[in-house]
Amino acid sequence: DWTMASFRDTKIKEIREQVGDKRVICGLSGGVDSSVVAVLIHEAIGDQLTCVYVDHGLMRQGESEQVVSLFREHYNINLVHRDASDLFLGALAGVTDPEVKRKTIGKLFIDVFEEEAKAVGGADFLAQGTLYPDVIESVSFIGGPSVTIKSHHNVGGLPERMNMGLVEPLRELFKDEVRALGRELGLHEDFVGRHPFPGPGLAIRIPGEITREKADILRKADAIYLEEIRNAGLYDSIWQAFAVLLPVKTVGVMGDARTYDHVCAIRAVNSTDGMTADYYPFPHEFLGRVATRIINEVRGINRVVYDVTSKPPGTIEWE
Ligand code: XMP
Repeated sequence: DWTMASFRDTKIKEIREQVGDKRVICGLSGGVDSSVVAVLIHEAIGDQLTCVYVDHGLMRQGESEQVVSLFREHYNINLVHRDASDLFLGALAGVTDPEVKRKTIGKLFIDVFEEEAKAVGGADFLAQGTLYPDVIESVSFIGGPSVTIKSHHNVGGLPERMNMGLVEPLRELFKDEVRALGRELGLHEDFVGRHPFPGPGLAIRIPGEITREKADILRKADAIYLEEIRNAGLYDSIWQAFAVLLPVKTVGVMGDARTYDHVCAIRAVNSTDGMTADYYPFPHEFLGRVATRIINEVRGINRVVYDVTSKPPGTIEWE
């Protein structure tokens, strides 16, 4: 009979057979899929695995530290942590078009990943957190819709370029099964139950031009919002929640001084697959508390609005 424990054991055996004594490299993003892939492959082949975490400087508050300490210190996995924030923010300077942002980040990501892979002496296999829905989607895209709403970036193209085989142990799984496998592997609930986070990170939550200063402001607001969601016990009943920093300044008053600062939009949605979504009906009192905290604690924001758009017609992200 089929259990997650037997699935794990089967996969570990398959990975050992596929890889033999060769080396595997795995891109870590901090998300559920790549975390589960890394831990599973590490159980199978230990030190033959090297993980590469490319930090584009557009992660949430504390996220990079969390990823590095979990994988390097807790799991003792070979981990390369490349802080490439200057490179990414430099390349994004002046870029305002959402698709150009995605393409700029996607291309740089592959360049940096390839550089780091070479620096550790290369590998024979690339591990990817491809899920069943990704497998179906890429098939149905032949003759599928010709309009791309958003180009999602991943490391597609890299295996051919670097002449590597692929290790994709999650190809038969849906997202909730990946979470169950993560729990089976003993991954902490903080990682397993994580809301989805887009590859381009905060870049697509800062409409208009991205600067390090704006990213820092957004990180603070986002952290307060998520902390309040956790305190209210709502994190696990929401598909995804995040703050967006708008390129609009409005007038406010603090004490007896006039302020002229950014507007922050907060968003939360429920969804089963990300394809459609309903905005989350927070109590007004909760929204008021979040707004007060963000405005009082984050310099640079003086107004907070709540996004009540569902998908369609809106998308989940603002860009
Ligand atoms: P949208 O905004 O298209 O988002 O309604 C649907 C889901 O996909 C995530 N998303 C992305 N994930 N790269 C990613 O890896 C991207 O460029 C990207 N754009 C959106 C979004 O966070 C949501 O979960």
